Amino acid sequence: MKKIVIANWKMNPQSLREAEDLFKNVKKKSSKLKKVKIIICPPAVYIERLRKLSEKTNTTFLGAQDCFYREYGAWTGKLSPKMLRNVGADFVILGHSELKSLGDTYDDINIKVKLALKNKLTPIICVGEENRDNQGTYFSMIEKQILSALSGVGSQFSDKIIIAYEPIWAVGKDAKKIISPEELIQIVIFIKKILADKYGVEKIKKINILYGGSVNFRNVEELIQKSGVNGFLIGRDSLVYKNFNNILDIIENS
Ligand code: 13P
Repeated sequence: MKKIVIANWKMNPQSLREAEDLFKNVKKKSSKLKKVKIIICPPAVYIERLRKLSEKTNTTFLGAQDCFYREYGAWTGKLSPKMLRNVGADFVILGHSELKSLGDTYDDINIKVKLALKNKLTPIICVGEENRDNQGTYFSMIEKQILSALSGVGSQFSDKIIIAYEPIWAVGKDAKKIISPEELIQIVIFIKKILADKYGVEKIKKINILYGGSVNFRNVEELIQKSGVNGFLIGRDSLVYKNFNNILDIIENS
């Protein structure tokens, strides 16, 4: 299975020109990679244009950062899964912690997952605890999040979902600390067990479990080699050419 690297550009960059430059760099790099699949999730306003730039190689895929939980209608400011699909997205990040902090609930996320699948978008489902305690209560929280997000999602879809573990304490410039491979492998095994109980051991071989939160070119080698994840969701370092290229090289050669 190829490793997956997802670039979550969040609300960056500020112009289409800069978005094109960033994207061209990734596209050039991706044509030299054999073991890594790259998914760029730019702000939705750039997807259509970037899709046109990617058409010739198809080594770099596009995803949206969210979708709405209704398919059509009078919803000011919202984007339906089908719109995103129609402008060229193949993937959609759902349940990112920055949207949960604005009110996105796991009931909403569950509807979004089903609508994404219906509209042939692969959902990248984010889960993760806000804080850790010594009692390990975060394990049951992660389990609840995964089972709520996947409620009513049958095993025929199990190879069409991606789970991204993004502990909130490790995300963004205010991250409290960086996760260790030892901490991460426990969570990866735990997530696999939850999915195996739900979908069966055979099915979960095809489910990608990724990690996101302060991934950079300094920590990525250890994480890919020792934590059991199949790739990463990268925020800040996906916006800096050199750093992102470095990360891709390290994963390709691991
Ligand atoms: P950072 O890599 O900037 O910590 O962001 C991670 C993230 O939120 C990816 O979705």
